[in-house]
Amino acid sequence: MKNSFRKKPLSLLLEEMKSEHRLNRVLGPLALTSLGVGAIIGTGIFVLIGVAAHDKAGPAVTLSFALAGLACVFAALCYAEFASMAPVAGSAYTYAYATLGELFAWIIGWDLILEYAVASATVAHGWSHYFQDFMGIFGLHIPEIFSRAPLDFDPATGSLVLTGSMFDLPAVIIVLIVTVILVKGIRESAGFNTAMVIVKVAIVLLVIVLGAQYVKPENWQPFAPFGYSGLSVFGHTILGETGAGGAPVGVLAGAAMIFFAYIGFDSISTHAEEARRPERDVPIGIIASLIICTMLYVAVAAVITGMVPYDQINIDAPVSYAFKQVGLDWAQFLVSLGAITGITSVLLVMMLSQPRIFLAMARDGLLPNKFFGVVHPKFKTPWNATILTGIFVAILGAFLPLRLLAELVNIGTLFAFVVVCAAVLIMRRTNPDAERPFRAPLVPFVPIAGILTCLLLMFSLPAENWWRLIVWLLIGFCIYFFYGRHHSVLNQHHD
Ligand code: ALA
Repeated sequence: MKNSFRKKPLSLLLEEMKSEHRLNRVLGPLALTSLGVGAIIGTGIFVLIGVAAHDKAGPAVTLSFALAGLACVFAALCYAEFASMAPVAGSAYTYAYATLGELFAWIIGWDLILEYAVASATVAHGWSHYFQDFMGIFGLHIPEIFSRAPLDFDPATGSLVLTGSMFDLPAVIIVLIVTVILVKGIRESAGFNTAMVIVKVAIVLLVIVLGAQYVKPENWQPFAPFGYSGLSVFGHTILGETGAGGAPVGVLAGAAMIFFAYIGFDSISTHAEEARRPERDVPIGIIASLIICTMLYVAVAAVITGMVPYDQINIDAPVSYAFKQVGLDWAQFLVSLGAITGITSVLLVMMLSQPRIFLAMARDGLLPNKFFGVVHPKFKTPWNATILTGIFVAILGAFLPLRLLAELVNIGTLFAFVVVCAAVLIMRRTNPDAERPFRAPLVPFVPIAGILTCLLLMFSLPAENWWRLIVWLLIGFCIYFFYGRHHSVLNQHHD
């Protein structure tokens, strides 16, 4: 049991970085910030804002965005400190290995699959919504049986119902295309990403500037029809109202849902190994991309809820639809196209990050290195892991509904953030003299505030997500005890 808490020394992490078979160091601060924005602005702001405003928070979803952004700022500062200390692929997984020990590291690595692979499936769904919205403008429609997942949430009851569809074909196709691009290489991926980020930010600015002219302040009344809170503990609402299916509603519950919109800034830290000057550029990338996105989100939320009464906001493609609702069909066309482009770039970064986490875990022996650790001789990408990720994401995206996936991703990611914040506190005690090119300010306030705000959001999600998280972690636990513990590189006595 003691072995399960062995830690990977920081010196070993740094030593490993010097060895061969590393990924190419090609990314500068602009490329990293662009990867961050590329990973952040996507399905959250283009799709989930609809459900959050319609069912959870009303116009006060603007506050939900601000609150979720604040939780992310605390976590981002902690991520930035770690990323500057140990700029290797692996992100929260690697940080946990150095501070909390192997078992925790494995659990976090396993948990990050929820963040990246399951998020990719969620994002692929969002892409499919906008793709279908876009085709609909030209009167084209995907046959009903290939248009969505076979199950979906019924907003009236909060329970799952059959949709009559077999699977979401557009979601599968986009995942397969992105997988092929990623196997080809990081340099091409980063260039492709930058172009898409420019289009996406331009469209978001168009939404804000054009949409602002159609805002009717009376749509902001009542501002918080579901209240300002929405906190429950394992299914018992302790603050605020309860909505359909027993789930909490209110500003906090809205924040817990649209938290998804912020996921991605931390993926920059998974590219630390590919950064030219990671100790400086990675913190810049994380913090700059987060600040840019928070400002854009709050503005978009205010505009959309100002353009359309909250109970008439569309749930599938709310942003482009808002323009249709005010009679601007040409803007619906542009926004839809921008959303498709923007969401593609999120998928690209998310699916780029997952194989790199597998790679880091495989190098440590916690996953089979012969499979996950293989870097393609020509493209220098972890191609096996990339293809496996693609298949997994395509299957999830094909069959599971967006909201279920999004909530699962949120709870998993919030859990990872809690651990990273805690790890910063621990590391300051255990390795006080380690070189920290970037130091999170106001320690211990910032990590503690990060832990508390992320826990608050975890408790504002519908209770079943806790059970799903626990089951997922238990499966991970078993894999560790049967495989990782024996094959770990840190294991001196191989059995
Ligand atoms: N933040 C990303 C999105 O909203 C995951 O699509």
